[in-house]
Amino acid sequence: MKNIIATLCLCTFAACTATSKFAPAADELPAMQSKMPGISFDRAIQGYKLYATNCSNCHRLHNPKEYTAIEWKKILPEMFDKAKFKNEENQTLLRNYVIAKSKN
Ligand code: HEC
Repeated sequence: MKNIIATLCLCTFAACTATSKFAPAADELPAMQSKMPGISFDRAIQGYKLYATNCSNCHRLHNPKEYTAIEWKKILPEMFDKAKFKNEENQTLLRNYVIAKSKN
């Protein structure tokens, strides 16, 4: 029984670290701002949390660096529909986060 609990804890931990590798780091802020001028660290974190919770239900969480800003702008409207992610303020937070971390 103890082993099962330990295994469960480990898996949960592994799952968290697997997705949190896309979380914005404070030292990335200048790089993020070069792609998304004016983004604050706080708003990048909010966007990341929305992304992590809404965009990994059907497939793995994609690394924002897989796509350029232009590609993300094409992909996101379709995925917002699929995820039934309708709140415009939240869409903006999520979009700004992925673009700030997008491929050059
Ligand atoms: C209801 C299921 C579902 C949800 C929720 C969902 N997706 Fe997807 N996503 C898909 C499917 C299916 C595909 C592959 C086929 C396609 O492009 O329609 C896909 C593909 C993708 C791709 C690859 C696109 C490409 O052209 O290679 C990205 C990036 C992506 N999703 C991002 C997101 C983001 C960001 C969110 C959150 C807003 C999200 N997805 C939520 C179903 C979903």
